[in-house]
Amino acid sequence: MARIVDTSTMAWQNGGEVIKAMAPEWRANLGPAEQVAETYAKYDQKTLRLDPATTRRLDLIRLAPGYRDLTYAYHDSVEECFCLGGSCWLGGEGTIHEWGYFWRPPGWVHTAATEEGFVALLGIQGECDESGPASRRVRPESEAGRCVTTDDPDAALGPRGFVKMLDSRLVPWQPGPVFARCEGPLDGFDLERVAFKVLSKNPWTGAQSLLLRLAPGYRQARPGRHTAGFEAFVITGSARLGETPLPAGSYFERTAGAEEPPLASEEGAILFAKADGWLDFR
Ligand SMILES: [Fe+2]
Repeated sequence: MARIVDTSTMAWQNGGEVIKAMAPEWRANLGPAEQVAETYAKYDQKTLRLDPATTRRLDLIRLAPGYRDLTYAYHDSVEECFCLGGSCWLGGEGTIHEWGYFWRPPGWVHTAATEEGFVALLGIQGECDESGPASRRVRPESEAGRCVTTDDPDAALGPRGFVKMLDSRLVPWQPGPVFARCEGPLDGFDLERVAFKVLSKNPWTGAQSLLLRLAPGYRQARPGRHTAGFEAFVITGSARLGETPLPAGSYFERTAGAEEPPLASEEGAILFAKADGWLDFR
C-alpha cells in the first residue's frame, strides 16, 4: 500500500536535527566546526523518504535568506533538485530559480548560497547503478564546476548526463499518448488527461524524473501495479489516491509490484515524480 506524507502536518526539522539525520560521511565534512551551528540554523527540512541501506533520500528543504555552505564539495552520490521557490546560487554552475532543476552526477565540485531564501525538493540518489552513497568531500574553490573523481568524460556524466540548470518551463509537455509510445504499458493511466515533461532519464533502465500535469477530471479507472518504484510530490493543485486526499505539498510512494489505489484529480495538479525504471501501471 502506498505511503502517503502530507507535509503540511509535519514540523520542520532545523539545525542540529538536520545534521543528525545526515549520513555520517556527509555530517563529518560540513566545514569549520565552529561555524556549523550558525549555518544550519538557516536550514529547515521535512523528510519525504530516507532509505538507510542505500542512503537514498528526498527532502523538502527551506533555506533562510543568507544561508551559505561553508565549503566547496562534491558528493559520491547523485544530487537532484527541483526548485519550488526563491533562488540559490550554485558555485561553479549558476543560479537556480523556481521551476529550475538539476541532476548532478557524482564527483562534481560545487557550493550553495541563497540571498533571498530557497524552497526545493532535494534528493540524494544513494547507492544504485547511477550513484554512490551519500557523502560530502570538501574541495578547494579552484575546482568549482569540475568533476574531480574521474578523467573519463563519459564516466563523469553517467547514464543520464549532468542535467545542469534546466529551466523546466522550457521543456515541452508530451501528451500522454505520445509519451506512452516509449514507455511500458501505460493503459492504467488516464492518458487523455495527463502530460509529461522528462527532466532526466537513464536510457538503459528507464529510471527517470518527470513532471506530470493532470488535467481536471483525471482518473485512473482501477487499482494497478508499477513494475518499478514510483514516487510523486504534488506541487500545485490537488489529487487523490484512492480515498486519501493529496493537497499541494503531499508526497506519496507506490512500491514496485504492489497493488496500489488509483490516482485521480478533480481540479488538476502538477506533480514532480520519480520512477525507478520504465513507467507503467497495470
Ligand atoms: Fe551538494
